[in-house]
Amino acid sequence: MRTISVSAPGKLLLLGEHAAVYGHPCIVTAVNQRMHLVAECTPDAVFRLDAENLYVKRYERPMQEVGTGQVPKAVRFVESAVRRFMQAYPFSQGIRMSTKCDFSSQHGLGSSSSVTVGAIRALAELTGRTLTREELFTMAFQAVLDVQGRSSGFDVAAAVYGGTILYQKGNKPEQLDPEQLPLIVGYSGQKADTVSQVAAVREIHDRHPEIVDRLFEIVSVLVKDGATAIRTHDYRKLGAYMNLNQGILESLEVGTAKLAAMIYATRAAGAYGAKLSGAGGGDCMIALAPEDKKELISTAIAKAGGEIIAIETNVEGVRIDH
Ligand code: PMV
Repeated sequence: MRTISVSAPGKLLLLGEHAAVYGHPCIVTAVNQRMHLVAECTPDAVFRLDAENLYVKRYERPMQEVGTGQVPKAVRFVESAVRRFMQAYPFSQGIRMSTKCDFSSQHGLGSSSSVTVGAIRALAELTGRTLTREELFTMAFQAVLDVQGRSSGFDVAAAVYGGTILYQKGNKPEQLDPEQLPLIVGYSGQKADTVSQVAAVREIHDRHPEIVDRLFEIVSVLVKDGATAIRTHDYRKLGAYMNLNQGILESLEVGTAKLAAMIYATRAAGAYGAKLSGAGGGDCMIALAPEDKKELISTAIAKAGGEIIAIETNVEGVRIDH
């Protein structure tokens, strides 16, 4: 029986979180911490899963029940991906999958979206279907929406297309630049819950729509000009935009004292700019670092109680490894 190994990258949001949910653009980079997924067909119509990082061992369900009824949290995204694929391209075999992630699902680097994309890519390969990147994106985004309810799809786009992209819901992502970004990433040690953060921002938005919509318009300008700053490697400007974006995120109450301490520490240590990355309420912050300040900035993050996560940006999207 043929075994397929697939991997998909994690991601970091550089600019535009939350506004992206309301149809505004954002900038996301794919990072070299990847989700690895091995899959094979089995003769019986059973779905089997092992997910080491999520303590899922010898999980199994009849294929026709996958993605229905009560699905344990740890396997929701994989099941949703399998269900979406089976609905579009029915097949009779069973599937055995195992997943392993280079990063902890606690870090908020996008394990849910990369496992969803990886599972669909693997199923396409196993069943002899050719999916374009656009088709893969559409199906994976649907699978994520089934579980998450509200999402811009930026993380799915990063997992599918890779690189550093200007992403806006409904548009084809635009690749910005193949260079590495001088980013330092600090993990706050607090696990963020994207769904509740998105719901909390919605509440603020619904209470003050005219104000929050204006803030999102400003974020849109930061993202569009930030894209030009990335293309021209104007990191001083990009850093200033990250600081401005952080101010807006703070006003939406998605910051935390710990993230703020880490952000302030990196600015004091000479970062071009720093902000939280993602939904907020925890997870990671990012600092844009001049080459000669990288060490000082990393030390500042550690002193503020953060954990440095070594990453490369701008990496390849989902791929078949063998
Ligand atoms: O928490 P993360 O890293 O998944 O980022 C969420 C970003 C949001 O803009 C808040 C949500 C979205 O779907 O764009």
